Amino acid sequence: MGKLFYGTQTGTTVAVAESIQKQLAELVSEIKPIDRSSAADFADDDFLVLGSSTWGDGELTDDWVDFWPQMDNINFSGKKVALFALGDQVGYGYNFVSSMKIMYDKVLERGGTIIANQITKDGFDFEHTEAIVDNYFVGLVIDEVNESHLTEDRIAAWAQEIRSGLMVTA
Ligand SMILES: Cc1cc2nc3c(=O)[nH]c(=O)nc-3n(C[C@H](O)[C@H](O)[C@H](O)COP(=O)(O)O)c2cc1C
Repeated sequence: MGKLFYGTQTGTTVAVAESIQKQLAELVSEIKPIDRSSAADFADDDFLVLGSSTWGDGELTDDWVDFWPQMDNINFSGKKVALFALGDQVGYGYNFVSSMKIMYDKVLERGGTIIANQITKDGFDFEHTEAIVDNYFVGLVIDEVNESHLTEDRIAAWAQEIRSGLMVTA
C-alpha cells in the first residue's frame, strides 16, 4: 500500500486526489494534505504519489513550498513515486504544469524512482512546459480549468501505468 501527498492553493486538487485514490484503491491507503504531513509520514511506504497544482510562474503551491526543506530529510531510495500536477494550458500555457518538474527533480535527487512517467502530450495545447523529459510528461497532467471532462479517463490511463510500474495486475 502507498500514500498520496498533495498541495493545493484553492482546493481543486483535493477532488483530483480523491479521484486518484478511488481509482487506485488497492494501492493508495491514505491521502494527506502536505501542510498536515511530516517527513516521517513518507518513511514506511515503498509507493508514493505526490501532486501539486501549479502557481506563480510554474511553481509549486505555497503548502509544498513550506514543506520543501523537509524533502531533504526523506530518503526516497527503494521508493517508487508517481507524480501528478494540475495546471491551466490556456491561461498559463507558457508554463503549463511546470511544478511537476520540481517534484521530479527532487525525488530523483533523493534517490527515488519515478514511475508512470510516459504521459503523452498529445491532446494538450500549450506553449511551454518544464515537465516533459524525453518527450513525455513526467507524470499525470490534469487541467480542471479547461478539460475537466477528461480528468477521470486521464487518471484511469495513468493508474494503469502505475500498475505496470509496480507490476501488479488490476
Ligand atoms: C495566479 C495563478 C497562477 C497560476 N500559474 C499557473 C502556471 O504557472 N502554470 C499552470 O499550468 N497553471 C497555473 N495556474 C492554474 C492552476 O494551477 C489551476 O487553476 C489549478 O486547477 C488550481 O488548483 P488548486 O485549486 O488545487 O490550487 C495558475 C492559476 C492562478 C490563479
